[in-house]
Amino acid sequence: MQRQAARLQASIARLGPWFHNIHLPGGIETAPGHFLGDFPSYKWRRIENLLPADLRGWSVLDIGCNAGFYSFELAKRGAKVLGVDSDRRYLAQAEFISKQLELENKPSFSCLQVHELATLPDTFDLVLFMGVFYHLRYPMLALDTVAAKTRRLMVFQSLTMRGAKVLRPKKDYPFGRRAVFSKGGWPKLAFIEHKFASDATNWWVPNHAAAMAMLRSTGFERVERRSHEIYFCYPPKGGVAALRTWDEGEWLAATGQHKTKGRKE
Ligand SMILES: C[S@@+](CC[C@H](N)C(=O)[O-])C[C@H]1O[C@@H](n2cnc3c(N)ncnc32)[C@H](O)[C@@H]1O
Repeated sequence: MQRQAARLQASIARLGPWFHNIHLPGGIETAPGHFLGDFPSYKWRRIENLLPADLRGWSVLDIGCNAGFYSFELAKRGAKVLGVDSDRRYLAQAEFISKQLELENKPSFSCLQVHELATLPDTFDLVLFMGVFYHLRYPMLALDTVAAKTRRLMVFQSLTMRGAKVLRPKKDYPFGRRAVFSKGGWPKLAFIEHKFASDATNWWVPNHAAAMAMLRSTGFERVERRSHEIYFCYPPKGGVAALRTWDEGEWLAATGQHKTKGRKE
């Protein structure tokens, strides 16, 4: 028994460093000294009761799945889960955990960049887009792509700036009225040129007003903040395309789906 536990610990060490602290049978944890505490268990506890307990018949896309904490929890509820991540080291951790957990219904894992989802034909009942947005150099592009994958609900979580003030913008402003952009509650993203929390992949941090505005702007019909930094987003019937107010040309070109009109070959 002790030898088995030692082997498990050695495998965990070999696959590290870990960002998800996953509790394995026998009481072994993958990242017990995590700088955020028991992560992401404490974040999961804030949403677990807000999601259906029975997810049989639901398809789920977990974007930036990391070592698969959420993917496993949702698979336990009966969902058919696809976890995607751009980092193969994390996917190796997810596959390892999958072997350790005796689940009848296992998630699938795939190495994908969030932007590659644009050309994937599938849509999903539930999309988890948690802890990824602020790591993206092209965040709005990704948000438009991810929103279009959502059939019933997207759960969005992002690092945000302090403050919950919201200035609901008017439909239009005259050209000279730039002062409005400096008002508290205007939707804003802070750009990080160097590092934040020693991490050079933290690029853009929205305030609450910006998170709400960007999520609405992708075409979600209803956006609700359900907990600190966590937003539940509901598309209209038929998906976000029905409520889009923006020209698709740029998104299609940026995701390699479309040639600019009038371009000479
Ligand atoms: C902060 S972790 C969040 C993990 C998990 N979603 C959570 O909330 O606990 C960010 C994850 O997103 C992945 N990621 C970052 N950029 C990505 C991209 N462009 N496409 C896909 N995954 C990405 C990272 O590899 C990492 O696993």
